[in-house]
Amino acid sequence: MRDLSDPLRPVPGSQSPAAAPILETRGLGYDAGGRVLIDGLDLTIRPCRRTVVLGANGAGKSLALRLMHGLMRPARGEVLWQGKPLDRQARAAQAMVFQRPVMLRRSVRANLRFALVVHGFAGRERALREARALEQARLTDLAHRPARVLSGGEQQRLALARALATEPRILFLDEPTASLDPASTHAVETLIDAAHAAGITIVLVTHDLGQARRLGDDVIFLHAGQVAETGPAARVLTAPSSGPARAWIDGRLYFDPTP
Ligand SMILES: Nc1ncnc2c1ncn2[C@@H]1O[C@H](COP(=O)(O)OP(=O)(O)O)[C@@H](O)[C@H]1O
Ligand SMILES: [Mg+2]
Repeated sequence: MRDLSDPLRPVPGSQSPAAAPILETRGLGYDAGGRVLIDGLDLTIRPCRRTVVLGANGAGKSLALRLMHGLMRPARGEVLWQGKPLDRQARAAQAMVFQRPVMLRRSVRANLRFALVVHGFAGRERALREARALEQARLTDLAHRPARVLSGGEQQRLALARALATEPRILFLDEPTASLDPASTHAVETLIDAAHAAGITIVLVTHDLGQARRLGDDVIFLHAGQVAETGPAARVLTAPSSGPARAWIDGRLYFDPTP
């Protein structure tokens, strides 16, 4: 059990690759408009590790993330959270950050407060978490600004701090730095690092090979709605065994499946 009084305390023993999965998908499938978009995904997310989800545009990365987070109902298969079907309680232990942050038409502080209220925090505990999140995102001086006038990088830092303020067990990030400059990307990666150091499991979709190398422990490579390859980042990002992953890592713009 995590010591909630100290969010920076890593969970002992849970870094081991042998630890039981925190989340799994079994035969996960999703269709729309008469097309099979996600097909037979058997994924394993290990606790306290950083899993990077890679693949070309349209490979199904965002759909896979939404299905794992329970934002969409699968057509086939299931999502298991610590071995049990995903339910409301499990979903409350998860958080997600999108490429374009979704901000309420309120101040920076009110955006944080709203998320904390929704998660049932009140009084001193809520005020403490609010202050800590502002500090962590380096937004204390901007607390009273309307969130929607912040720069893209500041909004994304706020989105991350808001997600982390509720201390999720797992954080899904869908291309969180895709529209940010290098300095803002670095600030967001620093927040992701801090979350990981605090024992939060990370599942990150990215198109940035450098980011995958900097942040990834495990890789899931998707192609056309299916798993092309999975494995430790150290292997998949240097010696991929599947055609799609090899093409992507070599920087080729297109994978030709014909032999
Ligand atoms: N709600 C939907 N209805 C129909 N097609 C969809 C829907 N959502 C996604 N798709 C299609 O599913 C495929 C995978 O989408 P997505 O998961 O967004 O890809 P990625 O994030 O890897 O770029 C794409 O071909 C996309 O056009
Ligand atoms: Mg996407």
